[in-house]
Amino acid sequence: MRKKIVAGNWKMNKNLQEGIELAKELNTMLSADKPNCDVVICTPFIHLASVAPLLDSQLIGLGAENCADKASGAYTGEVSAEMVKSTGAQYVILGHSERRAYYHETNEILKEKINLALANGLKVIFCIGEVLEEREAGKQNEVVKAQLEGSLFDLTGDEFSNIILAYEPVWAIGTGKTATSDQAEEMHAFIRGVIAEKFGKDAAENVSILYGGSCKPSNAKELFAKPDVDGGLIGGAALKAADFKGIIDAWK
Ligand code: PGA
Repeated sequence: MRKKIVAGNWKMNKNLQEGIELAKELNTMLSADKPNCDVVICTPFIHLASVAPLLDSQLIGLGAENCADKASGAYTGEVSAEMVKSTGAQYVILGHSERRAYYHETNEILKEKINLALANGLKVIFCIGEVLEEREAGKQNEVVKAQLEGSLFDLTGDEFSNIILAYEPVWAIGTGKTATSDQAEEMHAFIRGVIAEKFGKDAAENVSILYGGSCKPSNAKELFAKPDVDGGLIGGAALKAADFKGIIDAWK
């Protein structure tokens, strides 16, 4: 049975002290009322080493929001997958649309990042999704398939088992405009089909596919009720413990 997951993506929010407070608050809440799903928080790099010891690792996993496409060396300002792992983090988000759009991360670059993350024992939350013009042109399946092919199709089946997918239609991110649960389900089922063709039926059945894009406590239950939606990748609503908990509770 594939895992149900609610993962938070803090993006570039919260200074270190604020991040520590949020992590503590969430840990306290979930210790008192245990989640029915895996929970992960993905924080800025500088928070990882301080937040890791504050979390009950049975309740909350920790991840970075990015890592370098090089293993080590003269790459000023970059943070390697090995460094991420050494903080105690277990996950890394790769391929987020903001990284693709603002930092020009291509399928090729993402492939390098994924390989390094997996080689260092991190689980990868790999984001895919179309922009509004692509959806309006009816090209969303084609776009998402190319993203999967371009970055993941050289992996072995074993490597692929450490991938979590997150479908995030770019037009729904931070806009308050959520995909309908039917739109999400249609795409998630398509993605599962693409994975089945490449990695086989078992791999497709076992991979968790999260929905991301304006997911909040009021719509999470309906989205998560769909058979191919295995949870959410949460931006804005992950910045308040009560909202994030509200989404986690959608699995109850
Ligand atoms: P949002 O962001 O929940 O604020 O729309 C989701 C994401 O970008 O991961």
